[in-house]
Amino acid sequence: MAKERLDVVGYWTEIKLQILQDYAKAYAQVLQNQHSIKHVAYIDGFAGAGEHISRESGELIAGSPARALSIQPRFSHYHFVEMDAARAKRLHGMGDQEDVTVYQGDCNEVLLQEIFPQCRYKDYRRALCLLDPYDLNPNWEVVETAGKMGSIEIFLNFMIMDANMNVLWNKPESVPPDQAQRMTKFWGDDSWRAAAYRTEQGLFGPIEEKGSNESVIAAYRKRLKEVAKFKYVPEPLPMRNSRGAIVYYLFFASQNSTGNKIAEHIFNKYRNRGVH
Ligand SMILES: C[S@@+](CC[C@H](N)C(=O)[O-])C[C@H]1O[C@@H](n2cnc3c(N)ncnc32)[C@H](O)[C@@H]1O
Repeated sequence: MAKERLDVVGYWTEIKLQILQDYAKAYAQVLQNQHSIKHVAYIDGFAGAGEHISRESGELIAGSPARALSIQPRFSHYHFVEMDAARAKRLHGMGDQEDVTVYQGDCNEVLLQEIFPQCRYKDYRRALCLLDPYDLNPNWEVVETAGKMGSIEIFLNFMIMDANMNVLWNKPESVPPDQAQRMTKFWGDDSWRAAAYRTEQGLFGPIEEKGSNESVIAAYRKRLKEVAKFKYVPEPLPMRNSRGAIVYYLFFASQNSTGNKIAEHIFNKYRNRGVH
C-alpha cells in the first residue's frame, strides 16, 4: 500500500494512541497477575492501516495494532478487523504471528459472530476492545453485547462532529431519513431525539430546540451504564481538531474498578488541554 494512502494524523490522534497504549499496557499487567484468568485478548474493531503519517513531523508513526503488539506482557491473542482490503492486507504484512488474526470485513458482523464468542466470562476469558471509527459507528448491538458479556471492556469514539453535521440539525424535520437511521443504529433506538432536542412552547405551538453536545454525551454515557450494563463509565474525553473544535468524545467503559481508576487517571492527564 502506497504511503500516500495512509492517514495523516494530528496532535489529538497522537494523544489518543498514547492513551490507548498506556491503558493497554496497564491492563495487560493487571490481568497477568490474576491467575484465574486464562486468556486475555486485544481486539481492534477499526484497526486501520497499521501506520499513519504524523502531520507535525511528517514521519511514519505506529497505529493502534502495532502499539498493542509492542506491549509487554503480551496479550494471549490479537484480533484486528479492517473493512478496507488494502489496509487489511497491510495488517497481515505486519508480522505473520500465530497469535494474530486479521479479519477483512465489517466489525459489526465480525465482532458479534467470530470474536466476542471467544471472550466469554464463564471461560475465564477477558478482552480489551478498541472501537475507533471515522463516523457514527459501530452499531449499538456491538457495544451492548460487550457490556452484557461482562468480560469485555471498550474504548469508543462517539463522533459528535459527524452527528452534528449530518443528523442533529437545528431543524430536525429537514434531516434525511438515512442520516437519522445511522444515528439510530449507533444509539440503539431513537431516544437520541429526546437527548438532543428539548421541546419549547413557541408562539404557534411547541417547537424543538437543539440542546448541547454535553446533553447528548451525558445521555449516551447513561445508556452505556443502564442499558449496556457497564459498571464504570468515566466522563469521556473531548478530542479536538487543529482548530480546537471537538471531533469526538473518547469513551471508556468497563466492569472493573481497577481498570476504571487507571483510565480516569490517564484521561485526567489530558483533560482541558485545549487547542494545540
Ligand atoms: C480511525 S481509522 C482506525 C485507526 C486505528 N485504530 C489506529 O489508531 O491506528 C478507522 C478505520 O476503520 C476502517 N473501517 C471503517 N468502517 C469499518 C467497519 N465497519 N468495520 C471495520 N473497519 C472499518 C476504515 O477503513 C479505517 O481504516
